[in-house]
Amino acid sequence: MPKIEIAFETFATVDDLPLADKALVDMAKEATRTAYAPYSNFWVGVAVLLSNGTITKGSNQENAAYPSGLCAERVAFFNIGVMFPTETIVAVAVVARGANEVQFTPVTPCGACRQVMVEYEQKQHVPIRIIFQDLDKQYYILPNITSLLPFQFSALNLK
Ligand code: THU
Repeated sequence: MPKIEIAFETFATVDDLPLADKALVDMAKEATRTAYAPYSNFWVGVAVLLSNGTITKGSNQENAAYPSGLCAERVAFFNIGVMFPTETIVAVAVVARGANEVQFTPVTPCGACRQVMVEYEQKQHVPIRIIFQDLDKQYYILPNITSLLPFQFSALNLK
C-alpha cells in the first residue's frame, strides 16, 4: 500500500530551536497579548517571517456569534495578503496559552488554517516553514505546510 511520509524535526525545549526560529516563537508569544478570546479563553499568537525580513503577527479574534471569529493563523495570512501582497512568506510560528496564563500550551493549526496556509504556499511556489509545539511538549518544525494537509482540496479541483 502506498504511504505518505512527513518530514519534520523535533526540539525538546524552545531553547533548543535554531536562533531565528526561537526569535519567531518569541514574537508569536508576544502576539498572544492581542488575542481577543473572551469565549474560549484560549489565546493564540502567530508570527510570520517575510522575505524582506519583516515579521508580522496575528492572534485569534472571537465574536459573540461564535463562527464569526477567526483563528490567529488566518488573521495573520489574510493580513499579509493585503499588506504585503508581493512578499514571500518564509516561516510561521504558532503558540498558545490560556487567558492571562504565563505558561504556554501546545497548539497545532486547525484544518481550516492548514487549508488557507497551504494555498498561500502554493501561490508563492516557495515552501513555508512552520513551527509549533505538539501535545508531547516538543517543538516541531516542518519544512512546508503542504505535508500538514495530504489530499488537500485546491484550485486544481475547480478546473
Ligand atoms: N485557534 C487558533 O487561533 N489557532 C489554532 O491553531 C487553533 C485554534 C483559536 C480559535 C478559537 O478562537 C480558539 O483558538 C479556541 O479554539
